[in-house]
Amino acid sequence: MQFLELSQSDTFTMSERKNIANLWERLLEHWQIAGVEYFVDALNGGIMKKTAIASKQQNGIIDTPQSHTNIATKNFTAGNAEIPNPDNTYQQVRDCRNLDDLRNLVSNFEGCPLKNTATNLVFSDGNPKSKIMFVGEAPGADEDRMGKPFVGLSGQLLDTMIRWINLDRENVYISNVIYWRPPGNRAPTTAEISSCMPFVEKQIALVNPKLLILVGGIAAKAVLQKADGIMKIRGQWFSYQNMYLQNPIPAMAIYHPAFLLRQPGQKRQVWRDLLAIEEKISTFSRE
Ligand code: URA
Repeated sequence: MQFLELSQSDTFTMSERKNIANLWERLLEHWQIAGVEYFVDALNGGIMKKTAIASKQQNGIIDTPQSHTNIATKNFTAGNAEIPNPDNTYQQVRDCRNLDDLRNLVSNFEGCPLKNTATNLVFSDGNPKSKIMFVGEAPGADEDRMGKPFVGLSGQLLDTMIRWINLDRENVYISNVIYWRPPGNRAPTTAEISSCMPFVEKQIALVNPKLLILVGGIAAKAVLQKADGIMKIRGQWFSYQNMYLQNPIPAMAIYHPAFLLRQPGQKRQVWRDLLAIEEKISTFSRE
């Protein structure tokens, strides 16, 4: 049996707590997949099964005001058996100060099974100091081989789209919501996305762009957490926030280049969206 202790510390604002509540769900899902069966409620001193957590959240016991959920590592005993420390990756993500350290953490992370079938970690490409960050879905075969996002056919079209707005790979930053190639290029599962999300959120906060562009429906859904599909939300401005960011970032979802390769008639829409993005970028240079 494996245990994970969830404790409360620090003081956070209301909006931070909303993000924390989302993180809670993802953490619980991640650890359950990793084989954790019971959760130790450090506030109330009890051990609870995952099924008991939902009612505790409803009663406001877990997401308590002015508190931040935090993973603490500690040894537990069950009967006479010493239970090994749970992984403290999420604590490390929170404390991570730069992209090199974050890349290192991701490359040592064992919580996403895609790592076992992939050839390379695909972390990012482009300029980490850029004001414009693109976040796509997941690496394909070419990206897996090269260890860089968007280097295959979709990547060539993405480069063209980036050039439409007078930019190139040297002045944008590119990553994905998944760091390893799903076998056979299948869509990543919710659990795979959840396992990578804390890193993605931290990566966005460390780059701290002025503009976030979600490439395709999967990235848009994972990052913006909207129920509506890409057809509905593309081209709209959203205010993106996560628990690591000081300030919200304007964000827009656009069609994925792989979709445009299949449906070139949709390029008109993406062209319109890119013009809106170009207009927004021009306001930065006026600041
Ligand atoms: N498609 C993506 O979403 N990301 C890549 O890195 C490559 C293709």
